[in-house]
Amino acid sequence: MEHRAGRVLIPREEIAARTVDLGRALGRDFAGRNPLLVGVLKGAVIFLADLIRAIPAPIGIDFMGVSSYGATTRSSGAVRLTADLSVSIEGRDVIIVEDIVDSGRTLGYLRRNFATRRPKSLSVCVLLDKIERREVDVKLDYVGFVIPDRFVVGYGFDFGGLYRSLPDIHVLEPPPRV
Ligand code: PRP
Repeated sequence: MEHRAGRVLIPREEIAARTVDLGRALGRDFAGRNPLLVGVLKGAVIFLADLIRAIPAPIGIDFMGVSSYGATTRSSGAVRLTADLSVSIEGRDVIIVEDIVDSGRTLGYLRRNFATRRPKSLSVCVLLDKIERREVDVKLDYVGFVIPDRFVVGYGFDFGGLYRSLPDIHVLEPPPRV
């Protein structure tokens, strides 16, 4: 079946405005602490790139590769580490930056994994919260938007590897088969 990026769910202007809000909040909360922002590959790369430029304070960045969906559209339940951090987070104020929380399994895994590395603090900043689909209770400290249970593409979100580079967040049409 032919899929396409359908109606715009969140336009680029709203994403940009909300990202500025989140950046200001992070800049205020972590002033003088030089936090490390950890982007979760691949989807969060675009959000992270915009977010760091909205934080009016010194920060560091690193990346963690985690995959839970593989080529399918719904979480298989198994979280797989595909790339590890390049720096130690011991004693650092760490902020995990995610594009979306769905079942919560990926973030649950990351929180547990990071906690064993003894950071000074661990926070989570997520652009989209698909709260209706939560299976694992996971604490989110900064949330951009709560969205309904729709499959989204654009602004980092893909379907079969496509659409990540679109500037707006769209609903995939027709919806993928579960
Ligand atoms: C997506 C998303 C989160 C995870 C959320 O990643 O970026 O990491 O799924 O789902 P969950 O809350 O049900 O665990 P995906 O595996 O699609 O990889 P990608 O970021 O490379 O697209």
